Amino acid sequence: ELFHKLKTAAIKASQFAYCPYSGFRVGAALETDGGEIFSGCNVENASFGLVICAERNAVFQAVAKKGKFTLRAVLIYTHTQKPSPPCGSCRQVLNEFGPEAEVICICDGPEIIRKNLMELFPDPFGPKVLHHFKKP
Ligand code: THU
Repeated sequence: ELFHKLKTAAIKASQFAYCPYSGFRVGAALETDGGEIFSGCNVENASFGLVICAERNAVFQAVAKKGKFTLRAVLIYTHTQKPSPPCGSCRQVLNEFGPEAEVICICDGPEIIRKNLMELFPDPFGPKVLHHFKKP
């Protein structure tokens, strides 16, 4: 089942999180329209502003292997008691590939967040805006 596959992949990715500064481990796993699963973890840096979140890492892994794809679902795992929704930058990047994607956030506690990206990120600045824009 998809949920279980994404959960396993996200938890595994979180184990590779490079987060010596925050200690906040995040793993993300996504499913593409081709039914493939890609995952990523957060990667921090001594220059703090350069951190990349797990969600964006997973999206970039998928692009590196598949090029353009449509994001069907993304599951985010955090090693916390409450689920943690994706940050604003990740919502923007997720929207680029799957404005209708399902976003699932799980943690070590019983609570789960399950929302459509459109709910989490309404009125996006996305590819359609630029496709409809006529260069002057
Ligand atoms: N982080 C993610 O990986 N995803 C999010 O959506 C929120 C934040 C990471 C970035 C940083 O390594 C740590 O969590 C604390 O912000």
